[in-house]
Amino acid sequence: MRVLCGTQGKQQHVLYYLGLVVFLLIAEVIASGGLKWVRVVVPRYCVPGETAYLYCEYNLGNHTLYAVKWYKDHEEFYRFVEKGNPRSRSYTVEGVTVDLKDSNAKRVVLRSVSYQTSGVFRCEVSAEAPSFMSAQSEARLEVVSFPEEDPQISGVEMQYQIGEEINLNCTSGKSYPASVLHWYINEQQVPKSKALIRYSVIEHEHGLVSTLLGLRFKLTERHFLGGSMRVKCIASLAPFILDDERESVVQSLAVKDYREAQLLVRSSASKISLPLAVILILLKLTNM
Ligand SMILES: *[C@@H]1O[C@H](CO)[C@@H](O)[C@H](O)[C@H]1NC(C)=O
Ligand SMILES: *[C@@H]1O[C@H](CO)[C@@H](O)[C@H](O)[C@H]1NC(C)=O
Repeated sequence: MRVLCGTQGKQQHVLYYLGLVVFLLIAEVIASGGLKWVRVVVPRYCVPGETAYLYCEYNLGNHTLYAVKWYKDHEEFYRFVEKGNPRSRSYTVEGVTVDLKDSNAKRVVLRSVSYQTSGVFRCEVSAEAPSFMSAQSEARLEVVSFPEEDPQISGVEMQYQIGEEINLNCTSGKSYPASVLHWYINEQQVPKSKALIRYSVIEHEHGLVSTLLGLRFKLTERHFLGGSMRVKCIASLAPFILDDERESVVQSLAVKDYREAQLLVRSSASKISLPLAVILILLKLTNM
């Protein structure tokens, strides 16, 4: 099988093949005769302009193939009829450009995918008379652009005093769909609260967007662990892409596909011991 566009983590491949083997073994035992199983293998995500290989794997048992039909969000875009003339046809569906020459009973090749290509792809396999049995399977493909830049923290002042308000903005790099931002103070995620200020997304060329999330909180001594405080902003795309996916996948993607910006706030108290109430804070931006 050709390397699929987008990345399916190694782990996922292993899980997928293990799952498939178990599934096949069970399917072979249970089924007798008829159309035994259908399974689609679709890249989880692609970047605009890439070629996507969508596979439809099936076992007809002792039946003969009649047709394989492909749908995107319930609209048919490709049909392979074993005894048809021509054997394969494609139908106009927004965001789907089939390479007929490269497509066959087992796969369809989509050229130059775009954001409109995102959706649920379903393969439906049917057998010849007399059984006319059919079976189907579907999977989701997302076309995304990951941000090329780290998020930026702005609004940083040269110094703060205990009791003062810290007021920062975090702006994500350009991506599609919009990045999700999270603020962390000393490795603790700031929960949804009035400390977070939401702004509308910033639109850029080619459909890309940046997300902006503000953080506002009053500085207290509690924030300084060993004389410093770490403020971090993390941008990720995963929660959107994987909304309805399995947990293991969410984890492997979240680790790989995030970017962050960090701010290290040092308390001058760590060098000279003054009463905390009047301490000035030195700020330093750190590069990851
Ligand atoms: C297909 O297999 C089933 C179960 O083994 C059998 O009953 C049936 O006769 C077979 N059909 C053909 C066309 O060989
Ligand atoms: C954060 O961004 C918003 C919207 O652009 C702006 O109104 C606000 O002043 C910014 N705050 C800081 C602390 O930079």
